[in-house]
Amino acid sequence: MTLRTLDTLGSLEGKRVIVRCDLNVPLRDGIITDDGRVRASLPTLNALINAGARVVVCSHLGRPDGAPDPQYSLEPVAQRLSELLGAPVAFARDTVGESAKEAVASLDDGGVVVIENLRFNPGETAKDDAARGAFAAELAKLGDVLVSDGFGVVHRKQASVYELAELLPSAAGLLIAAELDVLDRLTENPERPYAVVLGGSKVSDKLGVISHLLPRVDKILVGGGMLFTFLKAQGHAVASSLLEEDQLETVRGYIAEAAERGVELVLPTDVVVAASFGADAAHEVVAADAIESTPFGASGIGLDIGPETAAHFGEVIRESKTVFWNGPMGVFEFPAFAAGTKTVAQALTEVDGLSVVGGGDSAAAVRQLGFSDDQFGHISTGGGASLEFLEGKKLPGLEVLGWA
Ligand code: 3PG
Repeated sequence: MTLRTLDTLGSLEGKRVIVRCDLNVPLRDGIITDDGRVRASLPTLNALINAGARVVVCSHLGRPDGAPDPQYSLEPVAQRLSELLGAPVAFARDTVGESAKEAVASLDDGGVVVIENLRFNPGETAKDDAARGAFAAELAKLGDVLVSDGFGVVHRKQASVYELAELLPSAAGLLIAAELDVLDRLTENPERPYAVVLGGSKVSDKLGVISHLLPRVDKILVGGGMLFTFLKAQGHAVASSLLEEDQLETVRGYIAEAAERGVELVLPTDVVVAASFGADAAHEVVAADAIESTPFGASGIGLDIGPETAAHFGEVIRESKTVFWNGPMGVFEFPAFAAGTKTVAQALTEVDGLSVVGGGDSAAAVRQLGFSDDQFGHISTGGGASLEFLEGKKLPGLEVLGWA
């Protein structure tokens, strides 16, 4: 089965179209620090506005506990959306209550309203199918059709992602279609050499993707906090660096499988070790097999890949035709430990082929380090969703739209 796309919904003029976006953006003191997901929603919203639809935008933000919580209000997001669309955007102070009903009833053709955070309602994320179904039925009253475009949330079986798509005529928006197009290119006959760069803190978050990609890629490069579990699995001391003891056996298995399959597992040869976890911590570059030899001894903490490793990763990336990157190489939020992530990001901008930045922290990292979206082949809006897709898992929010 193939994905139902916007054109399958027919004329949308004058129709109330609920658009499930993923506008889960990072906020600091009520200010959006990365509006990438809002911008990524624009093509679908503009298409619907131009088609004369009455657009009802819904999303989650953060993980409130099924009840209103002002710090997770979508109001700042509605304001940003209005700026980016260059048009007024109404805001409803509830999700399926009087405010939402009135705001939707007041919409003109081509008008837009954002309703309050879906997760202020326990039914959105309920484990119980009936509770999700009941909330989806309330949501369904606000629209005639559903356009599902929150790629970042398609791995969640939640009321607005799954049950609502069964209740109303539904189709995928342009963002989901674009994301799938790219992810498909990573899984169906990728151009070779194909390298995958994995970082981030926990190896346990990446197990599924490593085991699924091992038979499919040419090279796997490992950085970030998870590299220390790989170094330890090779028999090296890692001082007080992040370590997942319970994953050592699994990681040893991956190292052996990579060797058997002829997949090059590229591990760091040097790392930056700090006296403590902090932006101003004293630090030294040291060989990856001598982490405890710094003056910080066994209390040292590895916070970035070293310059030799970063340069080598950069070469491997530039020589590849297909690159997927998920997870920062170090604690990029601290400038002293951002160099590895920056070198990897720079190399991705120089790939003569397809370069894809997985969502979440890696997307935030490239923007925070001053890169712009158009320097990469694609920056995914889905962190967990793109990883689960690459793990080969069935994603409920896609299956319900006909994707198989
Ligand atoms: C994300 O940020 O990955 C998506 O918005 C999904 O959010 P969740 O992990 O809270 O479901």
